[in-house]
Amino acid sequence: MSYGLLDPPMTLPAVPRPTVLVTGAAKRLGRQIALTLAQQGWNVAVHYRHSKAEALETIAACTALSHAKGDFYAASADLSDEAAVRALWQAVVAHYGRVDAVVNSASTFEHDDAQHFSYAMLDKHLHANTAAAIVLAQCLHAHRQDLRLNDDSPPAVVVNLLDQKLWNPNPDFFSYTLSKAALEAANTLLAQALAPLVRVVGVAPGLTLTSHMLSEAEFQALHRLSPLGRSSTPEDVAATVAFALSNRSITGTTLLVDGGQHLMRFERDFSLMPSVAASPSSSSL
Ligand SMILES: NC(=O)c1ccc[n+]([C@@H]2O[C@H](COP(=O)([O-])OP(=O)(O)OC[C@H]3O[C@@H](n4cnc5c(N)ncnc54)[C@H](OP(=O)(O)O)[C@@H]3O)[C@@H](O)[C@H]2O)c1
Repeated sequence: MSYGLLDPPMTLPAVPRPTVLVTGAAKRLGRQIALTLAQQGWNVAVHYRHSKAEALETIAACTALSHAKGDFYAASADLSDEAAVRALWQAVVAHYGRVDAVVNSASTFEHDDAQHFSYAMLDKHLHANTAAAIVLAQCLHAHRQDLRLNDDSPPAVVVNLLDQKLWNPNPDFFSYTLSKAALEAANTLLAQALAPLVRVVGVAPGLTLTSHMLSEAEFQALHRLSPLGRSSTPEDVAATVAFALSNRSITGTTLLVDGGQHLMRFERDFSLMPSVAASPSSSSL
């Protein structure tokens, strides 16, 4: 909150900072979401699995952005393990007392296809990408019930990171895609089941960050491959998450942030179509 050149009057009521748990916030999109929310006045619990050093760096960057007024806390969990997800939630609630939102950004993203599909690959993606997000929504709802806030309190919020490829499907990353399709269905079901205490909103990026499978030139060409000539940036995605958290009327829907890539038809996943990058005209609207 800014008071311009004046000190805040002593009578001003203290507005508590809301608290959000962002999963997978050590790096990449999760990190940008954490930074954006810290800048907008949130306390952020930074979840990570292996990237402890990067999580601590995210916390240092959040602290710098919030002029050290926020409370930033790192917590580790393997989201494919239900007990670890529940322990993560308990740790975050024990630290903050009250939690207002969860952003499910962490994601397992391993390649398989229909020919190499296995129960193990599906389990891995469904547990980390779908079941963990549902359990965290369930925990947030129970927490909200326990708090017994008055009726004027804004609902708590869950934001689920989805993917434009659900609207523009291809069979690459088969188990990952199924896990995100299930999460998109859960987005609707949870919005129905957890209202009015909790809102549930999907945010679906287009190609935003590169992977080890693409050169920088390939990534740049694919990023331009959209009706608007530019897919999403991390800042675009984080701003949409912040909007979803702040707008009290949105639930049970998904905001696509992809430069319109979902309106196109891609035969392959971005990371497997560098030849298209070399010749963008081979993909059509
Ligand atoms: N990047 C894009 O262009 C893009 C496009 C469309 C959709 N999305 C969606 O946006 C979200 C963020 O994307 P991203 O590229 O930033 O994600 P990412 O780099 O693929 O993964 C983010 C983090 O997820 C964590 N993670 C993976 N499996 C986990 C597990 N079993 N338990 C706990 N943590 C786990 C990892 O944390 P550690 O490093 O700490 O192990 C990783 O750093 C994802 O949901 C993704 O599906 C991204």
